[in-house]
Amino acid sequence: MLVLVGILLIFVHDYSKIKSYMEKKKIILTGDRPTGKLHIGHYVGSLRRRVELQNSGEFDKIFIFEADGQALTDNIENPEKVRQNVIEVALDYLACGINPELSTIFIQSQIPELCELTFYFMDLVTVSRLQRNPTVKTEIQMRNFETSIPVGFFTYPISQAADITAFKATTVPVGEDQEPMLEQAREIVRRFNYIYGETLVEPEILLPDNAACLRLPGTDGKAKMSKSLGNCIYLSDSADEVEKKVRSMYTDPNHLRVTDPGQVEGNTVFTYLDAFSRPEHFGRYLPDYADLDELKAHYRRGGLGDMKVKKFLAAVMQEELGPIRERRKEFEKDIPAVYEMLRKGCEVARAAAAETLSEVRKSMKLTYFDDEALIEEQVRRFRGE
Ligand code: TRP
Repeated sequence: MLVLVGILLIFVHDYSKIKSYMEKKKIILTGDRPTGKLHIGHYVGSLRRRVELQNSGEFDKIFIFEADGQALTDNIENPEKVRQNVIEVALDYLACGINPELSTIFIQSQIPELCELTFYFMDLVTVSRLQRNPTVKTEIQMRNFETSIPVGFFTYPISQAADITAFKATTVPVGEDQEPMLEQAREIVRRFNYIYGETLVEPEILLPDNAACLRLPGTDGKAKMSKSLGNCIYLSDSADEVEKKVRSMYTDPNHLRVTDPGQVEGNTVFTYLDAFSRPEHFGRYLPDYADLDELKAHYRRGGLGDMKVKKFLAAVMQEELGPIRERRKEFEKDIPAVYEMLRKGCEVARAAAAETLSEVRKSMKLTYFDDEALIEEQVRRFRGE
């Protein structure tokens, strides 16, 4: 009899686990700081993947947002830049194929619940833990903040954890530089759930699977595409601009004559081909080669000129960027409709965040006025019972 009860208990226990696992929704959340138009580094690093995930139909909910509050943490001298770029980034999203019918697009500052959650999370993180965040460290160096680091900037990993957890995100598709932010978010979730009971969901990072997409270099070969370095190809660039930028791209500085053997590693044109080209492109634009490996082998041997490779890359990129550019132009014709789409997205997002926050307050027992037992308890205490 006891054995039977035991088996039954194990079954019931496992069953509730299986059930909760099955009920766990698959939710994507990701976003960008609106500090400039989006470029192809954003595209191969994350945007292209988001659209694929969106269209896969495998996710219950998808939230994509513009982190305007986070953008202000290092742009407080230039809030107008952030304001102007909110619409640019929204257009870039739509142009890439993010579909507001399938994904909720919203703006961070319009969701006050995120501030509240950040406020609670701040107690779960130490100053020294924040100081150890490698992304924040390099960003502080890059921006020459030295000793005048804004508190909001220093603590943005905490606010980012709130962005993610307020929507119970399970999956966060981002670039490699966001790894420390995800780790911080996971730590906060574990700490919160340990102290207050199982409430929040631990998110997983989803990195690009292609090494070239992990961190696409600038057209000048520098490690990162950045507006201030002037080495970006934007999603909104015209066909001519793309052509020009590809032609002036950094290759192998020792590949002087066509006959010279060339190096493919660290050669930006080849890195871009790794990120953009597919076997079918060869049939269309460069039928002498079966695939990228053959092209690379020829370049290494010598006898293949940079110009030929660049022309191929330009053709491949135009094929991918052309439709994006055209769609962007269409959306640009009705800007009020884009703001309306954002407004609706903010409404949906806010409702989702509000639901999580009400659970958070419950877990934290910050529900003084709904808690009759608490009031009763205090009444008895003051009566000296
Ligand atoms: N830090 C991200 C960036 O610089 C933007 C961002 C803010 C974000 N909150 C997020 C990304 C939450 C993913 C999840 O691009």
